[in-house]
Amino acid sequence: MKKTILVTGGAGYIGSHVVKLLGQSNHYNIIVYDNLSTGNRESILSGELIEGDLADTHLLQKIFTSRKIDAVMHFAAFIEVGESVKNPIKYYNNNTCNALNLLKILTTHNTRNFIFSSTAAVYGAPENGIVTEQTPLSPINPYGQSKLFVEKILQDISAAGGINYIALRYFNVAGADIDGQLGQKYKNPTHLITRCLKCAKGEFDKLEIFGTDYNTPDGTCIRDYIHVNDLAKAHIIALDYLFEKKMSNIFNLGYGHGFSVKEVVDIAKKVTQKDFKVVETARREGDPPILLSDNSKIKKDLGWLPDYDDLEFIIKTAWEWEKKL
Ligand SMILES: NC(=O)c1ccc[n+]([C@@H]2O[C@H](COP(=O)([O-])OP(=O)(O)OC[C@H]3O[C@@H](n4cnc5c(N)ncnc54)[C@H](O)[C@@H]3O)[C@@H](O)[C@H]2O)c1
Repeated sequence: MKKTILVTGGAGYIGSHVVKLLGQSNHYNIIVYDNLSTGNRESILSGELIEGDLADTHLLQKIFTSRKIDAVMHFAAFIEVGESVKNPIKYYNNNTCNALNLLKILTTHNTRNFIFSSTAAVYGAPENGIVTEQTPLSPINPYGQSKLFVEKILQDISAAGGINYIALRYFNVAGADIDGQLGQKYKNPTHLITRCLKCAKGEFDKLEIFGTDYNTPDGTCIRDYIHVNDLAKAHIIALDYLFEKKMSNIFNLGYGHGFSVKEVVDIAKKVTQKDFKVVETARREGDPPILLSDNSKIKKDLGWLPDYDDLEFIIKTAWEWEKKL
């Protein structure tokens, strides 16, 4: 019998790629729950959309009462670090309080499986740029903190026997669906690669590099960019793990190596064949010099292996998508 999966935020960038994969497997009934605040109706390629806000507990109660939900994948959240510093309540409200409300409802309806979109931002600015799941957690902005609170809540509910969960700590998610059907559609993207592509298209007049005096080979920050299809695949494996092993776990989700901002810009120029303007400015507060995942745990425990670990390919997929917007 098909299992029913409720995907919050399934109309967004990452959620829509996961929904597509869930649909392809043919093992699941998919319900996307999304208020379309940053997501798009046309990005939902499988299942049904219930348009609603996480704060609408009546609607959520109704959904859980009328159907048996076997698992929840929780993507819905606000994602901009800078905005979270300016407006922390907005972030704690949506990312933490709304997640808690959802957990309250699903535990009372005996839904026992939960996959949570966490983030490398829970590590803050670690001394050693490469982090394992054991590295101390010390977020340096409200966004990271709002996600860490949810991890703590999950840990406690799981310990009390309420649910099994998997928290996936994503590094820098990038690229677009390799079939060209999906990609990022943010109105004001903050992601480096998307900003480069908007510059190449002439939508932005310049690309700003924040800080060129870090202790890295070329002075700019180094990050771990993971293709969104590789990231999506990990969710399907995590779901199987929850159904089979009935155990909670936490995994880093990145490639384990990185590229500097300048390297990304150079590859973006090469892929797009556009020499867009680049301006070097001061450091932004709270940017760790290097943030890379040790991904040995997810490879060992889930058997996850990437298919698209090639930054030029990742940027090509994003560029093909961007040109269509
Ligand atoms: N994009 C990244 O690089 C990255 C990195 C680390 C973690 N994450 C996490 O991954 C998840 C998905 O991120 P994304 O990049 O796809 O963002 P996104 O903005 O494209 O997707 C978020 C989706 O959630 C929906 N949503 C937000 N608040 C809602 C609410 N209150 N009720 C109902 N729907 C709501 C939005 O409409 C949107 O469809 C987030 O939880 C984010 O924190 C993303």
